Amino acid sequence: MAIWALLSWILFLLLCIHNLASFLSRTSDRRRLPPGPNGLPIIGSLFSIGKRPHESFAGLAKKFGPLMSLRMGFATVIVASSAKMAKEILQKKDKDFAGRIIPDAVTGEAHYDLSMAWISPGPCWRNLRKLCNTQMFTSQRLDALQGLRNQKMEELLKNIEPLSLSGEAVNISQLAFATALNFVSNAVFSVNLVDPLSEGAQEFKDVVWRIMEYAGKPNISDFFPLLKSLDPQGIRRHIKVSYDHLHRLIDDFIYQRLESRESGAPRKNDFLDVLLDHSQEDGSDFDLRYVKVLITDLYIAGGDTSATTVEWTMTELLRHPNTMKKVQRELQQVIGAEGSVEESHIPQLPYLEAVVKEAMRLHPPAPLLLPHRAETDVELCEYIIPKHTQVLVNVWAISRDADYWERPMNFMPERFLGSNADYRGQDFGFIPFGSGRRICPGMPLAVRMVHLMLASLLHSFNWKLPDGMKPETVDMDDKFGVTLQKAIPLLAIPSKRFDCGY
Ligand code: HEM
Repeated sequence: MAIWALLSWILFLLLCIHNLASFLSRTSDRRRLPPGPNGLPIIGSLFSIGKRPHESFAGLAKKFGPLMSLRMGFATVIVASSAKMAKEILQKKDKDFAGRIIPDAVTGEAHYDLSMAWISPGPCWRNLRKLCNTQMFTSQRLDALQGLRNQKMEELLKNIEPLSLSGEAVNISQLAFATALNFVSNAVFSVNLVDPLSEGAQEFKDVVWRIMEYAGKPNISDFFPLLKSLDPQGIRRHIKVSYDHLHRLIDDFIYQRLESRESGAPRKNDFLDVLLDHSQEDGSDFDLRYVKVLITDLYIAGGDTSATTVEWTMTELLRHPNTMKKVQRELQQVIGAEGSVEESHIPQLPYLEAVVKEAMRLHPPAPLLLPHRAETDVELCEYIIPKHTQVLVNVWAISRDADYWERPMNFMPERFLGSNADYRGQDFGFIPFGSGRRICPGMPLAVRMVHLMLASLLHSFNWKLPDGMKPETVDMDDKFGVTLQKAIPLLAIPSKRFDCGY
């Protein structure tokens, strides 16, 4: 006991000394940093930021301006809150700010240092991005795999039909999450892994979900690095169990495929074949660890973001029934009552596209992007951002900025009709996928998945809110985590639109 008490005191003292030294050095550095709140000694602004950092940062930006610095425990964080600042960071100084701060939770993954999402730019990261951009998320590859997605979507609609007859409500986020995971599984392994309507403990869905939950918890170790080894909230320990589980499931698929390739079975030409081809090239150091970690990245990055987009879009449509009718009219004109939605219809659905963009503007799934890091001391406007400082771009604040958007709080898809603003990160007022070097590599697949899901759900069914709920009373609170989810999951009741819609 006495030894533990002594050790705790020594640790506490070390913490205070380290903290004080860092506080003093930062106080002298602050002349060069952008303005920001002073915060309390030791903890800085940590607790005043609270559970909804996107909103707290937006509030502080009104006082301190579109580029501000905050002290959060031992970490200094720079927050950009305007389209102009986002452009400076993600375009003009893109290379300097392309690093990553790695959250402690992520280090619970074996070989996290091979993960494209978390490593800083270097040969390994460039190789992974190149593979994604030139071999996996190309139109050609995605076109080749679209038959699978269309077919899976039809199966899903058939599964919703009994619910439409019994008048049961569908949990849209659960349905969209499982469907998005299946789309990723189809692209990677050419298989379906999850039953979208089952509540049951399907391993894949549950394990990905648990990783998202732990990764989304605020972690004291991220702000007091000396505590990292102790993992006081147990986040790294818990997430490790789920990462190891997911890796085992992915390993099984990899080894089955290696066997079937050796036996001369026909190729699937999916992402796994692309990755195995690459790993088997002469002289390649891209071994099976890279394959496994990249596939893990795709599940983690692709499922929840796409599902959240579908849920918020459906929420906005249920709150704006006339807009929903307009989308359905467009679908009927393009597809007809007898037809079923296919991915090839998407370019002919500009109104649906505008609706999705408007929902992503108001509810960006990754409201602060992923944490960027200055790779060197960087001059930004009249300030110096020291090497290895964390840099956040508050996309949520930018896409609600009244200086940029007319009536920013209103849901008005028409603003995107005939506008050049698209997802590619060139319009810095609208960057739900980020911009520059770190822009989301999965965007081409995400755009297809989200549009296919929404078009199919809206073409085959009418949707209404559960009894007693009115469009104007739908709860719109969001919950900050790895993605910005709806705090109360959306429930909606389907009813068939046509006798044979699919
Ligand atoms: C609507 C759906 C999606 C949204 C809104 C979204 C958004 C984002 C954002 C904002 C980032 C970080 C950009 C930055 O830090 O500057 C990102 C990174 C990433 N996304 Fe997505 N994403 C979506 C779907 C997907 C899908 C379907 C995949 C793959 C299957 C994917 C794979 C990735 C990966 C691997 C990264 C890390 C890239 C890197 O750090 O170099 N995402 N995404």
